[in-house]
Amino acid sequence: MALTNCKKRIAVVYASVTGNTQAAAEIITAIASEKALELEVWRVEDFSLTELSRYDAVLVGTYTWGSGEVPREMRALFEAFERLGRKELVTAVFGTGDSFFAEFCGAVNRFRDMLYIHTDLAATLKVELAPESKDRERFDKLVESVVRKLSN
Ligand SMILES: Cc1cc2nc3c(=O)[nH]c(=O)nc-3n(C[C@H](O)[C@H](O)[C@H](O)COP(=O)(O)O)c2cc1C
Repeated sequence: MALTNCKKRIAVVYASVTGNTQAAAEIITAIASEKALELEVWRVEDFSLTELSRYDAVLVGTYTWGSGEVPREMRALFEAFERLGRKELVTAVFGTGDSFFAEFCGAVNRFRDMLYIHTDLAATLKVELAPESKDRERFDKLVESVVRKLSN
């Protein structure tokens, strides 16, 4: 599997209020850097939806709000994937949540189900609150799954 020399365009687009999902995005960025992958990281508020068509892979990061809901600032991105019409776009979704709530990482579930239909979904990852070192292996696997799809 070619983990290096992968010159595909990859974006991470995430939402975070208290920093947990941002920390997850930073771990993915560090892993990508170690693998010499070119990756752009965007807070969803700064991401132009028209750019979706220019990437080979998009990794979505989301926290969960309400009762298992997609956060308000992620809804336009969610709907843009539904309209995109690019089944070949490789995607992954990761997120942080709190298992205290009835539906743990419900927003990740919502994105997963939608991305599975509308894109080439590679991987899903849910983390309890702030990522810890024990989660590192699962982040590695998420990135490897995306790279494997891009190499096909
Ligand atoms: C009002 C409120 C509702 C929440 N609802 C859920 C939920 O339904 N499921 C879940 O897994 N986490 C839920 N959470 C927890 C957050 O998703 C969790 O703290 C997350 O790590 C925050 O991410 P961030 O630090 O990137 O903002 C909720 C938190 C708040 C404050």
